[in-house]
Amino acid sequence: MEPNVRFGRVNVRPFVPNDIPAIATIVREALRENYPTSLYIDIYGWWREGFLVADLQGHPVGFIAAVISSDGQARILMFAVTARFRRQGIGSHMMNEFLRVCAMRGLRRIELEVRTSNDEAIRFYKRYGFETAGVLPKFYTDGEDGYKMIRHL
Ligand code: ACO
Repeated sequence: MEPNVRFGRVNVRPFVPNDIPAIATIVREALRENYPTSLYIDIYGWWREGFLVADLQGHPVGFIAAVISSDGQARILMFAVTARFRRQGIGSHMMNEFLRVCAMRGLRRIELEVRTSNDEAIRFYKRYGFETAGVLPKFYTDGEDGYKMIRHL
């Protein structure tokens, strides 16, 4: 079911290149990263169905971007909701849609990396059946470790 947030209804739809400025803002604020426009275009070119946007009245308020690796598993590269719209079910709405896309595609496994300090995201992923599969020492450029998390489908 589509969640109703305070200002209207959130629709999860495929990414389009016009979303890039809004997505880049979410990435800067929520993931504290700055990527070139070409990265978003590349991800879009690699697997369109795996790049989803949470749209609130024409404005992106979250997104999930994933790729498919050569051995047929999905890897979530980025997943975020604008801070003031969190804890209203938007992340769940996107994850449910993403799981549906993966199932339609016949994928067997989804993997991702998350900062070991990111309790909120780790709790979220565990709720969605992801399990910690190992620690990635100094995975992030600032030296923080990551967890590899995996969900079987
Ligand atoms: N009222 C109160 N609480 C609610 C409501 C509601 N109406 N709806 C959902 N919640 C709760 C959920 O139960 C959940 O609680 P839990 O995590 O304790 O189980 C919590 O709110 C979050 O669920 P959602 O609202 O569905 O998710 P949200 O929209 O907040 O998005 C996300 C989750 C994407 C992880 C968000 O916290 C975020 O953007 N974090 C910053 C960016 C980030 O860390 N991203 C992941 C990095 S790893 C990577 O990119 C691969």
